[in-house]
Amino acid sequence: MLKNTVFLLLALTLPWLAQAQPQFASDSSPIVIKFSHVVANDTPKGQGAKLFKHLAEQRLGDRVRVEIYPSSSLYNDGIGLNALITGDIQLMAPSVAKLGEYSEAIQVFDLPFLFDDMNAVTRFQQSSAGQDLLVSMTNLNILGLAYWHNGMRQMSANRPLVTPGMARGLKLRVEPSDVLSSEVTAVHALPRKMSFSEVYQGMQTGVVDGQSGNTYSNMATQNWQDVQRYVTETNSGVVSYMLITNAAFWRRLPADIRTTLEDVIDEVSKQVNADARRLNEKARQTIADSDAEVLTLTPEQRAAWQAAEAPVLRAYRDQIGADLIHTAQQANHP
Ligand code: LMR
Repeated sequence: MLKNTVFLLLALTLPWLAQAQPQFASDSSPIVIKFSHVVANDTPKGQGAKLFKHLAEQRLGDRVRVEIYPSSSLYNDGIGLNALITGDIQLMAPSVAKLGEYSEAIQVFDLPFLFDDMNAVTRFQQSSAGQDLLVSMTNLNILGLAYWHNGMRQMSANRPLVTPGMARGLKLRVEPSDVLSSEVTAVHALPRKMSFSEVYQGMQTGVVDGQSGNTYSNMATQNWQDVQRYVTETNSGVVSYMLITNAAFWRRLPADIRTTLEDVIDEVSKQVNADARRLNEKARQTIADSDAEVLTLTPEQRAAWQAAEAPVLRAYRDQIGADLIHTAQQANHP
């Protein structure tokens, strides 16, 4: 089900858009691939984007030119997604939490305490159900090319959020995801959907008191530890990315270029997923060495969080699909 009229309009105009996109010139001008993202260069995605540019240009010479726009320097993810659909940019790797508006099934990634760790996330993404999600938005001109990892979600605030009750009444930043918002509401806190680039200032000025879950690498590269006293290691969810392109653009690429880019993407995806853990461990240390405190949960405290969030899983079961949720849960038990 489309959730707002913008997407309905886009769906109606897509046939026209597809026709409006020019064939690639057979002259010598390079095909330009604009890659927009919102995080810093020294994050898993930032590094992945740079490696993609390096390998694509190395292997394809002057046939392609990759332009990377990091740190929301071109668009935030919301506007970027519309720009990708209309063909103004060609690549993004948004957090899957930002794709729930386009595919209800993709919301599976946002469910609380669904995956035990990143290995389970990998197994689910490699399953046929996970691979099907890559092509679940082609009717909207969005084609998923690969999954890239970041890491598990941790909460932060100026209060130690070791029990769900401590979150009551707090304004917590969430990514634009209904499931993530419901998780905040489930513990009687107030969800605030906010662009990534606005979070630091939001925390500094008290527009939000904290955030409901993000990775250590995102926190440390944005210096959230300077404006948050406590990070609670909840591992309550996952920040994972889908590398996406404009489907019409991808289809129209000369076959040899497309194949080369697909090989590059395979290579880069392996590298990103291998490096993500190390970058997050390093970022955790940066935060632990700062004035902020990293709190870990006892098994009982974690169980209390899980119990508080359990209604969210039930609330979204029909919308996401019980079978898909079951497949994701099975990935915890290889
Ligand atoms: C966020 O908005 O918190 C994340 O999606 C940012 C990112 O791309 O990791």
